[in-house]
Amino acid sequence: MLSREDNQLFFDKISMKELAKKYGTPSFVYSEEKIVENFLTIKRAFSSTTTDICFAVKANSNIGILQILARQGAGFDIVSGGELARVLKAGGDPKKIVFSGVGKQDWEIIEGLQNEIRCFNVESAAELEKIAQIASSCSQIAPVSLRVNPNIDAKTHPYISTGLAESKFGIKIDSAEHLFQRAHEDPHLNLVGIDCHIGSQITEIEPFRAALNILINLVQRLAGKGINLSHIDIGGGVGIKYKDEEVINWNDFASEIKKSMKDIPQRLILEPGRSIVGDAGLLLAKIILLKNNGQKNFAVIDAGMNDLLRPALYGSWHEIVSVEKRTYPEPVDWEIVGPICETSDFLAKARSLSIVEGDLIAILDCGAYGFSMSSNYNSRPKAAEILVADKSHFCIRNREKISDLFFLENLRST
Ligand code: LLP
Repeated sequence: MLSREDNQLFFDKISMKELAKKYGTPSFVYSEEKIVENFLTIKRAFSSTTTDICFAVKANSNIGILQILARQGAGFDIVSGGELARVLKAGGDPKKIVFSGVGKQDWEIIEGLQNEIRCFNVESAAELEKIAQIASSCSQIAPVSLRVNPNIDAKTHPYISTGLAESKFGIKIDSAEHLFQRAHEDPHLNLVGIDCHIGSQITEIEPFRAALNILINLVQRLAGKGINLSHIDIGGGVGIKYKDEEVINWNDFASEIKKSMKDIPQRLILEPGRSIVGDAGLLLAKIILLKNNGQKNFAVIDAGMNDLLRPALYGSWHEIVSVEKRTYPEPVDWEIVGPICETSDFLAKARSLSIVEGDLIAILDCGAYGFSMSSNYNSRPKAAEILVADKSHFCIRNREKISDLFFLENLRST
């Protein structure tokens, strides 16, 4: 939780000024307490049901964060062999892993089979064939769920809307039935579920309800044919408050879902990412210099779009606060920009702040899709990641060194 004491910013009682002094900037800082609280809020909302929560690893894949969730008994939604390795390293239970993604490679399918994951969320007829064939050649039976595309408008940013017919995700709902039949009949496949994921940062319950009802309808038709599934997975996507959005309350969400699931014997799976880690992280950065181009004031900070891509990619809003609150100079509007050679390298626009060079700022709600989408663009070492827990702090990822940048590169010897 953020608090102020003597004008200084604290995160779970840890001084951000002290933390910046110790670890440097830019640094992502995460609160274990908030992550656990968010996870338990979802768990409690669904406590009267048979629901499994599989954290979407892509939102934040640091093994220190995954370890927190593994210790809480969370399952995981992964999309690559890399994420699988991370979950296993963090002590996650492979039997609680669902493997999503439109383009799983052979080696990733083999890794999933060997580690006996809960299921593959299959996104196409071609992928179903591929998994069946690999399972057969490994003399194994692959657990599969079919991801259908319910053609629902999630009413979110088009780049993170995934449930419309035009998107690359999932199996067209009208042609799904025969694929279920096909999976049911294959001796190398164990058909366990149905899933969907309609998008991210969704702020209304209705699209989820509509998608779930489409899934339930299909599940019942399949049951009529003797094809009985053990779970329904409705993906992730519940949004968080970045600015002034009205967001979904988990208890309301759960009661709506429970209404639809009444008399439905299947277990429910959720794949939340952002709603578990989003507001549990901030990005601590330092103002390198201030400049004015005659029209606008720019605060150039030591974090850029390589550290936090969301504003550049989606025009996303992240709240910015000063680590030390000043009374002077008078606040004016600032463009908060990074040092990268791109006009899209901005973290925030027109923010009224009282700042001077060398000040520290905190960019809030960066726990999801912050570090996990970061890059080395402009040969910038990736930021450090710090976990605040038990009134103490732990470095869960060291700041990259300059030599790390070309560690894997080779000079020709001739
Ligand atoms: N399950 C699947 C299959 C997904 O593709 C995703 C996110 C999730 C679960 C988790 O969704 P969440 O609960 O976090 O909304 N980079 C974007 C978000 C991309 C989300 C991609 N899929 C952003 O920064 O807003």
